Amino acid sequence: MNNEERLSLAYDYMHDFHKKDATGHDVAHVNRVLHLATYIAQCEGVTDLLTIKLASLLHDTVDHKLTDVDQAMQRLTLFLQKLNLPEEQQLHILHIIQYMSYSNGNNNAIDLSIEGQIVRDADRLDAIGAIGIARTFQFAGHFGEPMWIENDTQPIDNNTITHYDDWAPSAVKHFYEKLFKLKDLMHTPTAKQLAEQRHQFMCHYINQFFDEWYFEH
Ligand code: ADP
Ligand code: NI
Repeated sequence: MNNEERLSLAYDYMHDFHKKDATGHDVAHVNRVLHLATYIAQCEGVTDLLTIKLASLLHDTVDHKLTDVDQAMQRLTLFLQKLNLPEEQQLHILHIIQYMSYSNGNNNAIDLSIEGQIVRDADRLDAIGAIGIARTFQFAGHFGEPMWIENDTQPIDNNTITHYDDWAPSAVKHFYEKLFKLKDLMHTPTAKQLAEQRHQFMCHYINQFFDEWYFEH
């Protein structure tokens, strides 16, 4: 089996898993992560592109929000065995997929290889900027969360917010608990640079969101 065939099988496996997704973890998300990760790898001069591409394609097929993790991990392990890769490479890909997720910050301390860092950066880039905003509202809608809490609090100074833990779940809360933190958690210089502009766009967006929500005239 050559690498093109391996990638094609992985694409089919991924497509089958994500084709009906409406939570922001759809086929298009995976394709963007694949594209971003390949771009970052080229900029950073990292050469194990097969590991990066396979990990990108398969990264969201093991996610507790979407599926039963133990079963999904078993299925993925069997799938990788069929690709006839060296065992070390199979384990490397599984390790990346298991630990790359943000997971409320719990995985930040786990060391990832440069290939894993690149896939993680790509996934995090797709969580911020215009697409990140869209995915967050899509996710919140799917799981029945409001876009923002509907109470009569005063306009908030969103530059000084530290008390978001007390807020009820909402799409906007997710910006504070995760999205605004991602810029500083990027590993590679290429991703750090891309994250900067996407981060600024989200800040601008949230400012406008609050201006409109707490409209005063
Ligand atoms: P990871 O796999 O890195 O832990 P997630 O799958 O939790 O990341 O999140 C991916 C994207 O799904 C987020 O960037 C966001 O757009 C959306 N999302 C996840 N959790 C929430 C939430 N509680 N509210 C709104 N959007 C969410
Ligand atoms: Ni993802």
